[in-house]
Amino acid sequence: MANSNLALSSYWMPFTSNRDFKAAPRMIERAQGHYYWTEDGRQIYDGFSGLWTSGLGHCHPKIVEAVQQQVAELDYSIAFQVSHPKVFELANRLTAMAPEGFEHAFFCNSGSEAADTALKIALAYHRANGEPTRTRLVGRARGYHGVNFGGISVGGMSPNRKAFSACLIPGVDHLPHTFNLSQNAFSKGLPKWGAHLADELENLCALHDPGNIAAVIIEPAPGSTGILPPPEGYLQRLRHLCTKHGILLIFDEVINAFGRVGAAFGAERFGVTPDIITVAKGLTNGVIPMGGAIVTDKIYDTIVQGPPEVVELFHGYTYSGHPVASAAALATLSIYEEEGSFAEARALEPVFEEAIHSLADHPKVIDIRNIGLMGAVELAPRDGAPGARGLEVHKRCFWDEDLVIRNGVDIIQFSPFLNAKPDDIYAMFEKIRRVIDAVE
Ligand SMILES: Cc1ncc(COP(=O)(O)O)c(C=O)c1O
Repeated sequence: MANSNLALSSYWMPFTSNRDFKAAPRMIERAQGHYYWTEDGRQIYDGFSGLWTSGLGHCHPKIVEAVQQQVAELDYSIAFQVSHPKVFELANRLTAMAPEGFEHAFFCNSGSEAADTALKIALAYHRANGEPTRTRLVGRARGYHGVNFGGISVGGMSPNRKAFSACLIPGVDHLPHTFNLSQNAFSKGLPKWGAHLADELENLCALHDPGNIAAVIIEPAPGSTGILPPPEGYLQRLRHLCTKHGILLIFDEVINAFGRVGAAFGAERFGVTPDIITVAKGLTNGVIPMGGAIVTDKIYDTIVQGPPEVVELFHGYTYSGHPVASAAALATLSIYEEEGSFAEARALEPVFEEAIHSLADHPKVIDIRNIGLMGAVELAPRDGAPGARGLEVHKRCFWDEDLVIRNGVDIIQFSPFLNAKPDDIYAMFEKIRRVIDAVE
């Protein structure tokens, strides 16, 4: 490996086995389009489009140019009490792209902050609306809403919660997840079974009284937890119950939005309109960190009132609406429109579905799931070592097949570019078959 003298111990890597990585580092030096290059010049196909972030490909020239211009013109502008025009333009563009009725956007710097922002807006809304007892939050098992305390509290991934369990926020319940191998294994697109699982919200309402419940937060099509497309009718049923009981429905679209499910938003693809939508990742094509919560007039108007000298919502970040992030996001949203990226992704979906399900006959594969351009191949775990086979697949892809994909335990995950070439998608799954053949 080039640069073998680089000391690796100081940097503490996120969500990574540091010791395993540092024993044989998988380093990327540069990127362009659909490829990464390693320090020693290997060209690697990116099967995950960044970390669900970079659907348009890496280093898109129009985003690069927008960022370069912006950083030279206005590098930073104070975020509270003073602002700059680009972030207003961005809010206008983003809300125009969002489902009808979403007229206001609050900006932050990540998906985790977006989730916590949405939860706080939900609580603030009920208080301003004269229902301050609505404080309970409902998440879902196997949900992922980032790593801040709000997000891990409503989230449903036990490894992310267990070390912090004493300090999770109180008053949180979880709906059951919709994963069920005996009913839904190898479903293509939305599974048929499971809409009734939304009815658990009725039980929570009976238990706590709906007047104590503020919001339900879910990912329409969960991603990081292993790609769990919503059962047919599930989201409609949840929407119905939330409306019936005056509970706000939050769609965490940090992964789903901007083409990943073949539409601008999961809300649009699945035909269900929530009350708050969170975004991040594809908002800037991953180029500059940025997240946001998009809300309806009703929510904004309820909170944004009172005497003019009083701040309406005591929430915000030094880098909310950062000028360089705003410029990156504006360029990204323009490219989505100019290149017809969401329709392109939708047209690619049958190719991706056919390619990923070509592994269905493999004896080590126990399930395959897909929706839009997100998909998972679930491997049977090795006896006594869950996750070992998945990690080995990830590493062999990198070293032997010049391919980056992700594993979550034994679930191999895919997130192709919105403008991926069909041949590259087929080639990726040929590589995956070779690797799954080769691993123990
Ligand atoms: C649905 C969802 N919400 C929130 C997050 C957290 O985003 P970030 O890592 O930018 O904080 C993620 C990240 O993958 C996500 O998938």
